[in-house]
Amino acid sequence: MSRYFSEEKSAEAVNARMAQDIGPRLAEVMASLVTHLHAFAKDVSLTQQEWETAISFLTRTGHLCHDERQEFILLSDALGFSMLVDAINNRRPEGATENTVFGPFHVEGAPVRQMGETISLDGRGESCLFTGCVLDLDGHPVEGALIDVWSDNSDGFYDVQQPDIQPKWNNRGIFVTGADGAYSFVGIKPVSYPIPDDGPVGQMLRSLGRHPYRPAHTHYLITAEGYQKLVTHTFVGDDPYLESDAVFGVKDSLIAPFERADEATIWRSDFNFVLTPLDYRR
Ligand code: BEZ
Ligand code: FE
Repeated sequence: MSRYFSEEKSAEAVNARMAQDIGPRLAEVMASLVTHLHAFAKDVSLTQQEWETAISFLTRTGHLCHDERQEFILLSDALGFSMLVDAINNRRPEGATENTVFGPFHVEGAPVRQMGETISLDGRGESCLFTGCVLDLDGHPVEGALIDVWSDNSDGFYDVQQPDIQPKWNNRGIFVTGADGAYSFVGIKPVSYPIPDDGPVGQMLRSLGRHPYRPAHTHYLITAEGYQKLVTHTFVGDDPYLESDAVFGVKDSLIAPFERADEATIWRSDFNFVLTPLDYRR
């Protein structure tokens, strides 16, 4: 091999520069990244102009990132990359509840509420009684599970997107299961909404003829001692965006029943969460 860079052996030339003592995982990941990146440029015969467009796109993406906005994660979400990494890292046994994308709208420290309490503080939207159990793989209740729940309001916005309009902690709460593993709270039947599309990611979606919508969902982060963290949603089954979620988060097993209840609560949705033991790895 020539001592210098060539188009044919471009990736090899870069990878050969890595020191021997950098650690096997870093060497493996970087060698594969360089190999695939170079193969991509060759595959599409990337033009100088396209390279400049990509650099400008990534620069604008970076400039939009700050404590309250992470446009790079949004880019990863919209490319299906977040869901891929999530799938690789959360292979679960038959019967366990599946993970899905975390999203940018979780807030640490939501109020801990009593079972049956209301999380919808703006009194808007179609009220829904959410019920179910947190179970282990054998169907036994999990006591002491923390159920952190959050959803958009009836206009399709999270409280943190409208701090001057919505009450703080609107449609958020933490519930702790008792010995029966059961949970219940009153929220709203969520509505579909667009991911933030006023930046480079929105521009990319429009260029690709894609819409920015997520089908209606309620977020859950469930933790319990001795079990893997569960980051998931339940989805409303008749949503028109189920098959075209902007971030590819939908899974069949996460579509929950939403049934008409009495006049006071309007809707009812019952869903059991099945946790995976901490030591399970596949
Ligand atoms: C969400 O569901 O909150 C979400 C997920 C990914 C990107 C944007 C929003
Ligand atoms: Fe969401």
